[in-house]
Amino acid sequence: MNKRLLDKAAVVTGAGRGIGREIAIALAAEGAGVVVVDPGTARDGSGTDLAPAEQVVAEIKAGGGRAVANYNSVTDFKAAEEIIRNCEDSFGRVDIVVNCAGVLRERMIWNMTEEDWDTVIDVHLKGTFNICRHACVRMRGQRYGRIINLTSDAWRGTVGQSNYGAAKGGIVSLTSAIAREMGRYGVTANCLAPIAATRMTMTEEVKAGMKKRLESGMITKEFYDSFMAMPGPEYVSPMAVYLASDAAANINGQVFHIEKGRVSIYSQPVETLAIYKTTENGMFRVEELEDNVPKMLLAGYINPAPPEPPKEKSR
Ligand SMILES: NC(=O)c1ccc[n+]([C@@H]2O[C@H](COP(=O)([O-])OP(=O)(O)OC[C@H]3O[C@@H](n4cnc5c(N)ncnc54)[C@H](O)[C@@H]3O)[C@@H](O)[C@H]2O)c1
Repeated sequence: MNKRLLDKAAVVTGAGRGIGREIAIALAAEGAGVVVVDPGTARDGSGTDLAPAEQVVAEIKAGGGRAVANYNSVTDFKAAEEIIRNCEDSFGRVDIVVNCAGVLRERMIWNMTEEDWDTVIDVHLKGTFNICRHACVRMRGQRYGRIINLTSDAWRGTVGQSNYGAAKGGIVSLTSAIAREMGRYGVTANCLAPIAATRMTMTEEVKAGMKKRLESGMITKEFYDSFMAMPGPEYVSPMAVYLASDAAANINGQVFHIEKGRVSIYSQPVETLAIYKTTENGMFRVEELEDNVPKMLLAGYINPAPPEPPKEKSR
């Protein structure tokens, strides 16, 4: 079989576990040399552990592939540059970056601490920027590159994860901007929004929370069963290989959802309706907005979270 990524060099962040691990292994199996970046943090971003990255490198090498471990955190601008340099030093160039590093700090907005916010934004949004920023210098020079950034369906709006949703929305916008800036240099930038059972989605705590929601009638049995049967991260990696390959040279600035048995593409955000005012120097009066916004812009609209009566406190 012809390998699709022969002689290519890739950086995969968060590659010690979950989706990043599967992508690193899959890129290496296609011939790419891979920098397996992972400081091995806990799910909430605390601590470090060298073992996950080391194990992935050992696994790739055992399969005849090329890989080196890197334990830097993507949150640090300089450390991110070292990651990119590590790829150049190890494999001679940087062709592919896949940003999978991730942590979670779930809280409702009124309980979220500044640290919860900063930690999640730093790893996901700033980390993705840091890696892309340094990779783009090399990719622009060589007029070739593939950038794959992990977003989430949560970018459209989520509950209990405003930090994560904002970071993932930011990653979509960042990727879209990079696609437009780098496209002319033969570089593509796309997002993957996966669903996969990893420690991010399937902890004992998450499972217990789902059970509680089922028992209190907040979710249906059907939803609960499909959640508990969530497929593994190995179903995500073929799409990353495809986007990294020459066959995807013309795919740029897109967001794909991927899970076992399903790949879909998001529409590009567009304005759908407009009202215009040409008199009074274009200044809308408030009463005109009160009248026309519901009638013209919001016909058929449903509030995603309408007010509810206060719940009786259980004693
Ligand atoms: N699993 C899903 O269903 C799902 C859904 C949507 C989006 N995603 C996204 O996919 C990506 C991978 O998630 P996963 O489910 O495989 O999670 P995971 O927890 O299994 O893996 C994430 C890895 O990132 C590493 N990491 C954390 N902080 C880091 C840092 N500062 N620098 C470098 N690495 C760091 C962790 O050590 C961990 O090994 C994340 O961006 C996540 O938001 C996952």
